[in-house]
Amino acid sequence: MLASTHIPVLLQETIEALAVQAGGRYIDCTLGGGGHAAAILDRSSPGGQLLGIDADPEAIKIAKARLETYGGSALLVNENFVDLQAICIKYDFYPVHGILFDLGLSSLQLNDKGRGFSFQHDAPLDMRLSPSQEVTAADIINTSSEAELAHLIKTYGEEGYSHKIAHRIVQERPIKTTLQLARMIEQAIGHRRGRIHPATRTFQALRIAVNHELEHLEAALKQAIDLLGFDGRLVVISYHSLEDRIVKQFMQQESRDCICPPDILVCVCGHTARLRLITKKVITPSLGEVQLNPRSRSARLRVAEYVVSRGEHHKNTTNYVFRQELELMGSGNHL
Ligand SMILES: C[S@@+](CC[C@H](N)C(=O)[O-])C[C@H]1O[C@@H](n2cnc3c(N)ncnc32)[C@H](O)[C@@H]1O
Repeated sequence: MLASTHIPVLLQETIEALAVQAGGRYIDCTLGGGGHAAAILDRSSPGGQLLGIDADPEAIKIAKARLETYGGSALLVNENFVDLQAICIKYDFYPVHGILFDLGLSSLQLNDKGRGFSFQHDAPLDMRLSPSQEVTAADIINTSSEAELAHLIKTYGEEGYSHKIAHRIVQERPIKTTLQLARMIEQAIGHRRGRIHPATRTFQALRIAVNHELEHLEAALKQAIDLLGFDGRLVVISYHSLEDRIVKQFMQQESRDCICPPDILVCVCGHTARLRLITKKVITPSLGEVQLNPRSRSARLRVAEYVVSRGEHHKNTTNYVFRQELELMGSGNHL
């Protein structure tokens, strides 16, 4: 059972970054407990519409109950945002005024004792966002080679002791529960006072691997641009440096007219900017927000706006082609 509630992070900043307007259409790719979604629906009233997506069927159930009062203005679907364009075509929901990603897990999922996301509770090592996924954290822990585990823990957890941890895991297998894994890591690398729990980075690595978080984020960001109407906003809140790096590099690259290596004197890439950065600096929570909601402390919000690219004027970008396809396939209420 899910417990407690999820406090939406950077709520006011998100609504401002999305420039939510009455009658606008928005996609919340990470619906969670529906906190951001409710605020978007309130601000876009009258006439606003929201497509809310979550890979976790439990999250959809909770958000449906919470957003019931918005009736047909909120369309909530249990899907993975890696399929963002296909979802929008299926539900005829494009182009839109804004797209939000509030990445990671909700407090509801972290507090759910049976999901295995947290080492605060003993539970089977599952960590899947959806029961329809085949591979669990236990599968990865108990079947990967020592080298594969070390690589995964280093790459996705940025863990300095990845080899030591992987070696210990292979010696102690099978490992079935969160506490068994957390205690074993603590024994392997020790616990220095004042530092994060020694298992934190390994748990992050496993969660990222089980849910293909980084690959899905990269794929979804690329799809998101093509769904934005002109001046539409893309807002992403990330919670660790690996996610934030992907978002930052993506937004920077898409806001440049040329992405040739610096030693090339005349542009050969033909790339044209499709985004404009709204804030050059990342937006972080205030001290007051962190005090009220400690889980917000690592949040980093980035925002960019869709612009008509030179390439689009010349009708030769994939964006243009996709837009043509959308026009042909749907009757959407276009911006
Ligand atoms: C931080 S929570 C969002 C909280 C939400 N903004 C709110 O105010 O309640 C992140 C949510 O994104 C979902 N999620 C993460 N990766 C996803 C993916 N690839 N596709 C769909 N949903 C995903 C998680 O299941 C979780 O419910």
